[in-house]
Amino acid sequence: MPLASHDVFTAPDWWRQAVVYQIYPRSFADVNGDGIGDLKGITSRVPYLQELGVDAVWLSPFYPSALADGGYDVDDYRDVDPRIGTLDDFDEMVATLHAAHIKVVVDIVPNHSSDRHEWFKAAVAAGKGSPERDRYIFRDGKGEDGQLPPTALRSIFGGDAWHRVTEPDGSPGQWYLHLFAKEQPDFNWDHPDVHADFLATLRFWSDRGVDGFRVDVAHGLKKNLDRPFDAMIRVDDGVVDAGDGQHPLWDRDEVQDIYAEWRTVFNEYDPPRTAVAEAWVQPHRQARYSSPAGLGQTFNFDLLRADFSADDFHEVIDRNLKAAAEVGGSTTWVFSNHDVVRHATRYGLPPVPARAGAPGAGEAGRGNDGKQWLLEGGDPAEVDAERGLRRARAATLFMLALPGSAYLYQGEELGLQEAGQIPDAARQDPAFFRNREIEIGRDGCRVPLPWTREGSSFGFGPDGAHLPQPSWYADYAVDVESADPASTLNLYRRALALRHELECAEALEWWEVSTSVLGFARPNGWCAVTNFGTDPIPLPEGEVLLASGQLAAGELPGETTVWLRR
Ligand code: GLC
Ligand code: CA
Repeated sequence: MPLASHDVFTAPDWWRQAVVYQIYPRSFADVNGDGIGDLKGITSRVPYLQELGVDAVWLSPFYPSALADGGYDVDDYRDVDPRIGTLDDFDEMVATLHAAHIKVVVDIVPNHSSDRHEWFKAAVAAGKGSPERDRYIFRDGKGEDGQLPPTALRSIFGGDAWHRVTEPDGSPGQWYLHLFAKEQPDFNWDHPDVHADFLATLRFWSDRGVDGFRVDVAHGLKKNLDRPFDAMIRVDDGVVDAGDGQHPLWDRDEVQDIYAEWRTVFNEYDPPRTAVAEAWVQPHRQARYSSPAGLGQTFNFDLLRADFSADDFHEVIDRNLKAAAEVGGSTTWVFSNHDVVRHATRYGLPPVPARAGAPGAGEAGRGNDGKQWLLEGGDPAEVDAERGLRRARAATLFMLALPGSAYLYQGEELGLQEAGQIPDAARQDPAFFRNREIEIGRDGCRVPLPWTREGSSFGFGPDGAHLPQPSWYADYAVDVESADPASTLNLYRRALALRHELECAEALEWWEVSTSVLGFARPNGWCAVTNFGTDPIPLPEGEVLLASGQLAAGELPGETTVWLRR
């Protein structure tokens, strides 16, 4: 296949306006037939990625792991899970992607290791007061026999954020902190070994040709646990103060010192390695993570959280472009990832009267925050999938014309809906098991991809899939959509090809802003306009380049985006 225009690949600032495609390796493609996606599976699908037109892939963790949290519980940061492949497979994958001019970003998980990491095993074995324990966060329990957790802190996945170990002599012992699952002990980032080891990991992958890093829970590494606070741990909860004017856990100023250190490693390479922070922080704090002296880029989840509304999109885009410009970074846009309900489903959530007043209950009562509804066990049968997909296509086409980089999640290019009805026994997400009463977990967006209408596991692999695929997956299979000019896959392919042709300076000028329509122009006459309402509007003048849905004569239908040249 001929290579598309590749200025992006060779430019040192390739990341500024890149389209980055997130691969969840265990659910992408399985070559050896054990039901688990593997690195050879990714290598085998490089032609698909190339035809799609992405600039980079970001791989969710592929490291050795017991999968207590889908691989975000890492046993060894410098190896590949034998069920997924080998380091040789990794090198072959990188070489194949690079030959196709696709950059490679890997996921780094610095907040916690797994409880099978050699340091953690050593920490438990070495006992109280040992230097080994000091690399993690161990505390004595409260109560007469230390039988109560040190604080009332709750884990993000539900339950206590402390777990008690058994000491080497068999007695009940100290407690360690785990903000996520109990198999994910938090590192002590006040310890020099932890700093040194992560620098070694960054060099290890950079030396193997990795172009950048996605930094998991980037806002969580530094903690001040001096006060025995009983706080909730969400970021929005700005009222909690560790006694030093900062939140005890999240987005503490000192966390940036770590990234300044990482930056010196990134800059040892040519081109410098890049990084993007996963930092769920207040909007005005995001810029710290995007500074060129730090990680350089941060996920901006504002569009993901916004309603499908012209007002909300307008406000979010303005705010983020301004914030990025202030630090000289570039902004990012995300609608879907492995942690949230797929946006083709989010945008089709039914009006739920019982949810009136609930956060996210937006226009016409259609809240679009998946966590508010589907994750709480809302019935997927009530989702208006057609409307959800129509809006998702419109929103994505609008987003792909914006300056900044676009993060896509595997399967969204097929318009995949959330696989909401997974039997309890087949679920894997710890958020489901630890939080059973509250949420259903994230497995519904992690179901292996359908590649073919027929065949075992819709072409995912020769022998089944590790999460059950619904029968309607057949309609979204890559071979089905490839053959249909109006499919979502072909829309994404055309959009990405055009984006490469049209890409220009990172500026944007609004030319139409109303309560239901949003249009903007890029410096070279490339325009996008979205009708967020349901009634058609007159089609603006200009040469039509692409539309997210069928255009009627002279009209832009509701919930549709068009790209124009003016
Ligand atoms: C991030 C990941 C999520 C994981 C958590 C703990 O939020 O995206 O999947 O569960 O960190 O590592
Ligand atoms: Ca496999």
